[in-house]
Amino acid sequence: MVPLVDLARRFTPSAGELHEAVDEILRSGTILLGSHTERFETLFAEYVGTTHAVAVSSGASALQLTLAGIGLGPGDEVILPAMTAVPTASAVCAVGATPVFVDIDARTATISHDSVARALSPRTSAIIGVHLYGRPMRNTNELTSFGLPLIEDCAQSHGATHGLSGIAGAYSFYPTKNLGGIGDGGMVVTNDADLAERLRRLRAHGQREQYLHVDVSQNHRMSEIEAAWLTIQLRRLDDGNRRRRTIVNHYREEIPDISWQDNDSDHVHHLAVFLSSNREVTRRKMSDSGVMTGVHYPLALTQQPAMMKFATNPCPEAENWAARCVSVPCFPELTDSEVESVVRALRISAT
Ligand SMILES: Cc1ncc(COP(=O)(O)O)c(C=O)c1O
Repeated sequence: MVPLVDLARRFTPSAGELHEAVDEILRSGTILLGSHTERFETLFAEYVGTTHAVAVSSGASALQLTLAGIGLGPGDEVILPAMTAVPTASAVCAVGATPVFVDIDARTATISHDSVARALSPRTSAIIGVHLYGRPMRNTNELTSFGLPLIEDCAQSHGATHGLSGIAGAYSFYPTKNLGGIGDGGMVVTNDADLAERLRRLRAHGQREQYLHVDVSQNHRMSEIEAAWLTIQLRRLDDGNRRRRTIVNHYREEIPDISWQDNDSDHVHHLAVFLSSNREVTRRKMSDSGVMTGVHYPLALTQQPAMMKFATNPCPEAENWAARCVSVPCFPELTDSEVESVVRALRISAT
């Protein structure tokens, strides 16, 4: 079977470098918030084109601390797209604010500006946009024109955007991401020095200096080993993204007649997704042809049991996307012959 993702292929070439880094970290005696985390923050800020980067323990933490860092809490509403991973919404709930789901653009699967305009209320305090599957949302100027803080959920879009349109970008280093960790990890990037300083406190129990706590928070730290690993992987990110682009462009050229997610020259193809008119059948045929597929995601947030109570706006495009989306293998380590197997399987399966 051609796998949907195979992390062993990504991990093994970096094993030697990781072992060296782990040896050094163990000998140094510093395993949290040391020189590796600092170096990775500097390199990542440079890579993204922001003045600050604050390493945290996950993408969910990156979102939650950003919301807390801009002062959101109970009584605040945060608008976000109904087609995204659940943590985009859970982060809003974690600070006590209320998520407000809006619809997506039917071609790009990213947040629709018109839906945001319809959902605004006097309590709207921020907007979260998601560069879904690695496709830049491209309407950030319109979104910032509402005069509210825009947070970019970049959990799936490492390398797709340079600089920031919003007040902050929240990254995840979950192992399958384009820049994936060997455990959990996340990063907030921002050009706002005050926000960065607050985030540094919020990731460590609200501590300003040892045993002086000026904010109520919890532990959201990244480990030194994770930072060292991510520093190694960052050097490979652009090559990996180029390979992903080559693979997806080949799929699209060979099978142009299916409903692929709308493309973009900066798309980094964390996932290669198309819409099927009969997903069950399509996935069964792909599997019979030796190719694994996935579904990201089978339910819109408006349909998730834990989130339904926040579903106040109709989101038909997001629900349609959830009902029809299929993800096909698209990772840098795929061999050319596996890519051709996916093309052959798509030819006979995709409708
Ligand atoms: C769009 C999106 N936002 C947020 C997250 C949360 O990231 P993490 O799993 O690192 O907490 C993810 C990862 O699953 C994601 O895909």
